[in-house]
Amino acid sequence: MKKNITFLGIETSCDETAAAVITENNRGTADILSNVVSSQINEHEEFGGVVPELAARSHLEKIEYIIKKTIKESKIPLSKIDGVAATAGPGLIVCLTIGLNIGKSIAAFSEKPFIGVNHLEGHALSPGLEKKVPFPYLLLLISGGHTQFLIVKDVDKYEQIGTTIDDALGEAFDKTAKMLNLGYPGGPSVEKFSKLGDKNYFKLPEPIIGRAGCNLSFAGLKTAVLRKSKEIKDNQKLKYDLAASFQFTINKILYKKTKIAIQMFKEKTGAKKTKLIVAGGVAANKSIRENLSELSKKEGLEVIYPSVEFCGDNAAMIAWAGIQRFKKELTSKLTIPARSRWPLDEKAPFLKGPGLNLK
Ligand code: KG4
Ligand code: ZN
Repeated sequence: MKKNITFLGIETSCDETAAAVITENNRGTADILSNVVSSQINEHEEFGGVVPELAARSHLEKIEYIIKKTIKESKIPLSKIDGVAATAGPGLIVCLTIGLNIGKSIAAFSEKPFIGVNHLEGHALSPGLEKKVPFPYLLLLISGGHTQFLIVKDVDKYEQIGTTIDDALGEAFDKTAKMLNLGYPGGPSVEKFSKLGDKNYFKLPEPIIGRAGCNLSFAGLKTAVLRKSKEIKDNQKLKYDLAASFQFTINKILYKKTKIAIQMFKEKTGAKKTKLIVAGGVAANKSIRENLSELSKKEGLEVIYPSVEFCGDNAAMIAWAGIQRFKKELTSKLTIPARSRWPLDEKAPFLKGPGLNLK
């Protein structure tokens, strides 16, 4: 019988210190033996955003405990683990280095293979933890640092067909929450307070909605929210209306751009049927899920969202990406560096900064 592969995964790219032990089961999905995530919400709350030095110090303080706890909970001794995977980028270098170095050390001392995982590949393959999804599929990756449409052709094979040209979607949520003083972390609080507001009260811009394929832009929307938030001052009702209008506008943008991405996916792959995967921290948002489920129904395709615990940053998805790479013999050297920028599709144009000419 084929041996089921078990990996230890470690994630410290931003503000979650996480470790997990998972095994690929006979159904081709994951048995999660342990999955420990320690969030730094309290550390960053007073600043309304992640402070890199604080995040790094917090990772350093917690990482040993988190890894020991994970291994203990998994009931698998380190000697029985087949390999170690740790996030090598993209992310904050001071944070990445902590998980990456400890992962390399564990692998070296226990004489196991090591895999430096691209965090985005972790999100991209995350639906596989719970469900076997055949390649190729269309991925909408919406997180705090990234917003992209990708054709996931296989492990290690990605084609980017759209991206944000300025802010990431999670960032737009976080900044909106900060401007409206709705609390930290921003995404979940905007979602919560949106329910109390009138989504049609403010008419907000939908940048580059009619052009640039399925590329996205949120900077103009953010500026509009800033302007309105100054006008409405501390009026609680209007704050909720603005949060609701912001989320409604996001949904309109995602609806239109995802529709274009589905068409592009079909044209590029020749596939008549496809699956849409929505992954990353923002994919936890229920109203975005309902909106994209409605679109998928109209377009006649299945949409898959990872469980909420696997949408936000976690190490189970890193261990899973590690297992999938290990099966393809894509292991890393122990010299693999941490990278702040690491696109999944290295050939994709870098669509940021002044002088962009999008049609
Ligand atoms: O994937 P993730 O945990 O970390 C990155 O790789 O960036 O995503 C974090 C982002 C944050 O911007 C957070 O505000 C957003 O995901 N987020 C949400 C929700 N939950 C988390 N955004 C909107 N609605 C939510 N319910
Ligand atoms: Zn992430």
